[in-house]
Amino acid sequence: MKRVLIVDDELNMLESLHKILSYRKDFQISAFNDPAKALKELSKNKFDIVISDLRMENHSGIDILQASLKKNPATIVIIISGYGTIESSVEAIKLGAFDFIEKPFTSKKLFEVIDRGLLIKNQFSVDETEDIPELRGIVQNSPAMKEVLNLVRRISPSEMNVLIYGESGTGKELLARAIHKLSKGKNNPFVPVNCGALPEQLFESELFGHEKGAFTGAVKTKPGLLEFAEGGTFFFDEIGELTTALQVKLLRMLEERKIRRVGGSNEISINVRIIAATNKNLENLVSEGTFRDDLFYRLNNMKIEVPPLRERKEDIMPLINQYIQLLCSNKGEKQKHFTPEAEVALINYAWPGNVRELQNVINRTYFLCPNELITIDDLPIPVSKKQEIIDKSIITLSYKEAKERVLESFEIEYLTYHLKRNNGNITKTADECGLDRRSIHRLISRYNILFKD
Ligand SMILES: Nc1ncnc2c1ncn2[C@@H]1O[C@H](COP(=O)(O)OP(=O)(O)OP(=O)(O)O)[C@@H](O)[C@H]1O
Ligand SMILES: [Mg+2]
Repeated sequence: MKRVLIVDDELNMLESLHKILSYRKDFQISAFNDPAKALKELSKNKFDIVISDLRMENHSGIDILQASLKKNPATIVIIISGYGTIESSVEAIKLGAFDFIEKPFTSKKLFEVIDRGLLIKNQFSVDETEDIPELRGIVQNSPAMKEVLNLVRRISPSEMNVLIYGESGTGKELLARAIHKLSKGKNNPFVPVNCGALPEQLFESELFGHEKGAFTGAVKTKPGLLEFAEGGTFFFDEIGELTTALQVKLLRMLEERKIRRVGGSNEISINVRIIAATNKNLENLVSEGTFRDDLFYRLNNMKIEVPPLRERKEDIMPLINQYIQLLCSNKGEKQKHFTPEAEVALINYAWPGNVRELQNVINRTYFLCPNELITIDDLPIPVSKKQEIIDKSIITLSYKEAKERVLESFEIEYLTYHLKRNNGNITKTADECGLDRRSIHRLISRYNILFKD
C-alpha cells in the first residue's frame, strides 16, 4: 500500500485528482483543500507520494514540499501549477521535488510521473548495514553488490588467494584494496601490477628482482616487487595476460612460497597474499590451452564475481550522487540536479564500460552543462538515446527483411565495440568475440567498417 496525500485549494481539481488516483488500488489517498490542514497532517504522518498545487491561498506548494520532505526525505513530491514557469520548476526541484507538472495535464501524464518516481525512489532503499570504515565509499545499494561485499568481509581475514572476475571498470581493484584493508597484513604494502603492461623479460625482473650482472643493464642487485610486498598483498591485475613462462614461475612461487631473483641462485621466502583479477573468462583460456589449469585452480579457490552495472541498476543513482557530491565539494559550487527524465535515461543505459564509464560521463556532463538542472539533452548521445529493443521503422517490413536489418545493426554495433576496445587489433578482437580472424575480416568488409589497423 502506498500512502498518497493530495492538496489543492480548488475543489474541482482536488476531486478530479482523487478520482484519477483511486484507479490505483494500492493507493491509500488523503485529500485536503485546505493547505493548513495538510501541513498538520504532514507533521504527524509520513507519505510515499505527495501531490500539491503550487499557488494556493495562504500557503504555497513549496511549504507542502518542505513539510513532506522534513517528515520523510524519501517522499515523492510532485508539484502542480497553472502558472508554471521554468524558474519555479527549477526552484521546486532544487528543493527536492521529484517533478513538476503544468496544468492542464492528462491522467496519463500524471501516472507517468508517479511511476517514474516510484522507479527512481526504489533505487534509494538505503539500508543501514554495518558501517565498516574500510568499505566506506564503496556503493552497495543493489542486492548483488551487497552480496559481493559480504563475501569480501568474510574472506578478507583469511590468507586465501582470491580471484576477482568482472568486466572492465566494475571495481575489481577497488575490491582488491578493500580486501587488503580488512586483512591481517593491512599495515604492510598493497602492491598492484598489471600483467599485460610489461614485456616478459622486464616483468620477470620487476616481479622477482635481479642480481647484479644478471643481464646487460643490471648494474645493481634489485629486490623484486614480491619481496617488497612482504606481509601484505600482491595484486595481479589482468592475470589472463600473463605469458606461459611467467605462469610457470608464478605457480612455483604459489606452491613453494619461494622465489629466485633473475640471475640468482638463492631462494627467498615470500609471505604475501595473492589477489588476481581478470576481465577474461579464465576457464575458456584454460580450455584453449593459453592459461595453465594448475595455476587456475590455485588462484580460483576463492572467486568473487563483480556483476556488470547493467545487472545492478540500483547502484547507478547512488554512484552518480556520490560523484556529484565529490565534484561539488572540489569545486565549491552549488550542487547540480538531474531531471527525472535524465535519471531514467541514466538508469536505462547499458554502461558497457561500467563504473569507470559512468564516472567519465558524469564528469563530462557536469562540466559541459552550464545550468543547475541537467536535462536529458545534456547527456552524451549513447546515454540519452532511447534503448528501444527494435527500431519501429522495421515493423512494417517482411519478417525476413526485418530480421536481416536487426542482425545487420547488431553485427555492426557488436563488431565496432570490440574493435574499438582492442584498438583495431584483429587477432585480439577475434579472440575476445570467440570468432576466427577470417570471420572478423569478412564482417569488416561486408559493412565497410573503417577502423585503426
Ligand atoms: N561500488 C563502487 N562504489 C564506488 N566507486 C566504485 C565502485 N566500483 C567501482 N568504483 C570506481 O570506479 C572506478 C573503476 O574501478 P576499478 O579501477 O576498481 O575497476 P576495474 O574493474 O579494476 O577496472 P579495469 O578493468 O578497467 O581495470 C574507480 O574509480 C573506482 O573507485
Ligand atoms: Mg583495474
